[in-house]
Amino acid sequence: MTGAVRQPVFADVDTGVDDAMALAYLFASADAEVVGIGSTAGNVPVEQVCENNLGLLELCGMTGIEVSKGADGPLSIPLRTAEDTHGPAGLGYARLPASRQVLAPYTTADAWVGAAHAYPGELIGLVTGPLTNLALALRKEPALPKLLRRLVIMGGAFDYRGNTTAVAEWNISVDPESAAEVFAVWGAAWGLHKPTHLPIILGLNLTENAIMTPSILSRLAVAAGSPSAQMSVLDDRGTPSAASNPLIRVLEDAMRFYFEFHFDQGEGYLAHLHDPLAAAVALDPDLVRYRQATVDVELTGTLTRAMTVADWNGRWGRDLNAHVGIEIDPAAFFDRFIDRVGPFAQRLG
Ligand code: BDR
Ligand code: CA
Repeated sequence: MTGAVRQPVFADVDTGVDDAMALAYLFASADAEVVGIGSTAGNVPVEQVCENNLGLLELCGMTGIEVSKGADGPLSIPLRTAEDTHGPAGLGYARLPASRQVLAPYTTADAWVGAAHAYPGELIGLVTGPLTNLALALRKEPALPKLLRRLVIMGGAFDYRGNTTAVAEWNISVDPESAAEVFAVWGAAWGLHKPTHLPIILGLNLTENAIMTPSILSRLAVAAGSPSAQMSVLDDRGTPSAASNPLIRVLEDAMRFYFEFHFDQGEGYLAHLHDPLAAAVALDPDLVRYRQATVDVELTGTLTRAMTVADWNGRWGRDLNAHVGIEIDPAAFFDRFIDRVGPFAQRLG
């Protein structure tokens, strides 16, 4: 993709295996300029998220990208983390290099506001963790919705079961109040006036179609010029990657843990790439088909707290506030992922 226009992207993440894959995708994309990485407490505590973000930058040889630390917990409830899903440090079995880079001297909420003012009308915001920092940023700068070019959120589950409770998805479930606040405030800023600027929300109903398998992961290794034995459910748990390429090794060691988690959940030896899909959509929304809706978060249900509810037919009589992803071509997404991350990894090797 020579001569591609580099689109400024601010990524707010809770790294996390699939967040790491999403960052690798952004770093590998000639049409993206990552202008800042925000760290949200979620999959692992925020200090670990920061360390993971810095380690990934080091591993990928990326310089000049500030990593900021966000809130250490949700707006109004205690933090829950997901080491069972992502491993004790968030990256499965992978070990990241230590980084010499220090954290930015400002919070992630301030980083959102700063990036939006630095690239008015141009910035693409991507959130692949709980929405805590974005809610705080909106309180600081209510004009944020009008300063951004696009906002893509991985979160929720629309007319679809949850992955954390029977009805709730993880990112929304960790901090439902922040999600409700972001959806309400962003929608009110645009409402019916400019529906093209409403946030794109990608829930499990969409992202669970992005199914990474051992054979797709092998294709990635081959594209990086670093073929290794295809993983199998029969392998010993935690078998280290034999790939010679440092990025492929980390991604394989991370993905193996994620495969094992999904297997233990009864989903097969595979993994859902929620966050990389959101990163790909942030750069190219045409990868997905959408339906407009008014989206809200249940905050009080005894069985349904943190459920995302989409009013598809205007029954609430409220303005639209989201483009909800409803259809994707997974093969096209994986082709693009491999076409970008493979050669990027090879250049590092
Ligand atoms: C989301 O939850 C996290 O565990 C993943 O990183 C992803 O952002 C999927 O529900
Ligand atoms: Ca995530």
